[in-house]
This record gives sequence, C-alpha cells and structure tokens, in this order.
Amino acid sequence: MNAIFTRTSVRQFEDRPVESEKIDLLLKAGFAAPSALNERPWEFYIITNKGTLATLSKTSQYSRPVANAPAAIVICYNTSTLKTLDFVDINCAIAAENIWLEMEELGLGGVFMAVRPFQDRIDSVSKVLNLPENIVPFGIMPFGYPKNKRPAKDHFNADRVHYVD
Ligand SMILES: Cc1cc2nc3c(=O)[nH]c(=O)nc-3n(C[C@H](O)[C@H](O)[C@H](O)COP(=O)(O)O)c2cc1C
Repeated sequence: MNAIFTRTSVRQFEDRPVESEKIDLLLKAGFAAPSALNERPWEFYIITNKGTLATLSKTSQYSRPVANAPAAIVICYNTSTLKTLDFVDINCAIAAENIWLEMEELGLGGVFMAVRPFQDRIDSVSKVLNLPENIVPFGIMPFGYPKNKRPAKDHFNADRVHYVD
C-alpha cells in the first residue's frame, strides 16, 4: 500500500475546506478498523468551526496546529459499551492510523495528537466538545489539504530486524 510509505505528519494546510464526501471516507476508514473482542468502541467528532478549532488548539502545547486546519477529527471511545479498558488504546490507535492512511489516499494530510493518557488534556478536550461522561477523547487529528508536503523518509533499519531459526 503506497500510502503507508508516503504518509507524513502535516501541520500546515491550504485555506480551503475538505469536501464532505472525503470526510465520510475518513470516517469509513476509522470504522473499518479491527478491534479486540470486536468492541468497536469509537465515537468520532468532526470539527470544522474555526472558533472551535482555535479553542481545541489550546488544549495542549502540542495541539497548536489544530488552529491551522480547516477540520479535525477527535477520536473518542464510549465507556458505556466497553467490556474492558485493556484494549482501548490499541483499538483507537488502529482507527487513527486507518484514518491517517485514508487521508493520504485522498490527497489530504494531517497529524495525530495524543489526548489520552493525559488527564488534563482529556478534561480540556471534553470541555471544549461538551462530551458526556461516558465519552473519552483519545486523540485529535487536524486535517486538510497540505501546504508544502515533505517527502517521507525510508526508515527501514536492517539492524533491528532479527530472523530467528
Ligand atoms: C501517539 C502519537 C502522538 C503524537 N502527538 C503529536 C502531537 O501532540 N503534536 C504533533 O504535532 N505531532 C504529534 N505526533 C506526530 C509525530 O510527531 C510524528 O508522527 C513523528 O514525528 C513522525 O513523523 P511522520 O508522522 O511525519 O512520519 C504524534 C504521533 C503519535 C503516533
């Protein structure tokens, strides 16, 4: 899959909106992710309002690029339907990577910003989005049409590959 090898973090965006058809495809990619026990715990919040994006960008010192983006997806999970918290991070991370790769496929770009496991970020993002108690934000993905996308590097490292007899 080429998108795996061309994907990079994009933090600067053109000043144009993302078509709703493309946003739907990003969401489909997220929902297509595998999950432990097939729990599919995700809830996705889409933000396109510039004021809300600006407020969201202030929820941590690392989330500033959200203010440059025409849109963001906040990946959340629903605790009221979970059997266990054990797999919640990996389930949400796989959905995030699916979405990130689909962005690449669609000519979009974005980046992942951690919310979990930092309680202060969970609290501030929940407040901005007015999330109910049972919805916990996992990560923020600002996205849009990239400005100056840099080429991806080849990170293959033979020294870290171990064939075992
Ligand atoms: C779990 C995780 C958390 C990240 N958090 C942030 C973040 O808060 N802010 C940010 O600008 N980038 C964040 N990134 C993006 C990484 O900095 C980026 O993926 C890494 O430097 C490799 O660059 P690449 O994505 O272009 O290959 C995060 C990535 C991951 C996987």
